[in-house]
Amino acid sequence: MPGIDDTLRAFGDLVRTGAILPQEARAQGPLRVGVDLGTANLVLAVVDAAGQPVAGATQRSGGIRDGIVVDWPATVRAVRQMKAELEARLGQPLPRAATAIPPGIHPGSSKAIGNVLEAADFELAEIIDEPVAAARLLGLRDGAVVDVGGGTTGISVLEGGKVLASVDEATGGTHMTLVLAGAMRLSLEAAEAMKHDPAQAGEVFALVRPVVDKMAAIVAEVLARFPRMDTVHVVGGACSFEGFVPVFEKHLGRKVIKPAEPLLVTPLGIALYEGAR
Ligand SMILES: Nc1ncnc2c1ncn2[C@@H]1O[C@H](COP(=O)(O)OP(=O)(O)OP(=O)(O)O)[C@@H](O)[C@H]1O
Ligand SMILES: [Mg+2]
Repeated sequence: MPGIDDTLRAFGDLVRTGAILPQEARAQGPLRVGVDLGTANLVLAVVDAAGQPVAGATQRSGGIRDGIVVDWPATVRAVRQMKAELEARLGQPLPRAATAIPPGIHPGSSKAIGNVLEAADFELAEIIDEPVAAARLLGLRDGAVVDVGGGTTGISVLEGGKVLASVDEATGGTHMTLVLAGAMRLSLEAAEAMKHDPAQAGEVFALVRPVVDKMAAIVAEVLARFPRMDTVHVVGGACSFEGFVPVFEKHLGRKVIKPAEPLLVTPLGIALYEGAR
């Protein structure tokens, strides 16, 4: 059995190369699709009946802000495009999909997220809380999941697979980009590019470090209410920095685990819904 990190790396390769898991390597049964409508990234994940990644696609987002659809046509168009692209790659239709929402979102906004999938011709399999999707992939029923995304940092505490507490704070990767742009006198686009340049990783992390400290302080405050939660799982694109985990461990005084491909944990977890048909 491959481990979780192997599965995530395999999915990352499929997304980046546009390859698919060959038919003969797949488990028998219908494919399942997960659609993550994030503020920074839209991700479609396809898994087989055994949960192995089969294909994936991603596009920059622009029409979603923290689980709220702010540009309906652009979002529907992007989801349709990725669906068509994956169907062409796989040579078969993908009729059903699940999606996820940040916890605590208004029921009206949650309905709008579901409607995006239906408008893109998906039959809606499930709408799940984002941290529950992440925990499902990580095989976690009890513990803390911190999702450091583009716009927000979500802190969720799970017990018995259910969300016990959930807090969303308005800091994330975009905040890091703003700090970098200010410090280097760069445009937001140039700062975003610099943030992703491995050659400048050391300098970038030194400059965004205060944002990471602030994030960790926020998480520490929330988790103070849960002294028995001794392990924290970090996911989401903005925890990609190499120095991220040590900073969090220092502030939290708990073990911090970052899976491979942190940005892809929630999307892949969404696709792992039960009751495929
Ligand atoms: N290698 C990297 N190094 C640093 N930051 C990164 C890296 N990859 C992605 N990011 C940042 O991660 C953020 C996007 O993360 P993610 O895709 O998890 O967010 P999202 O799900 O779209 O947003 P949200 O969950 O807030 O709605 C962006 O700010 C992006 O710049
Ligand atoms: Mg997200």
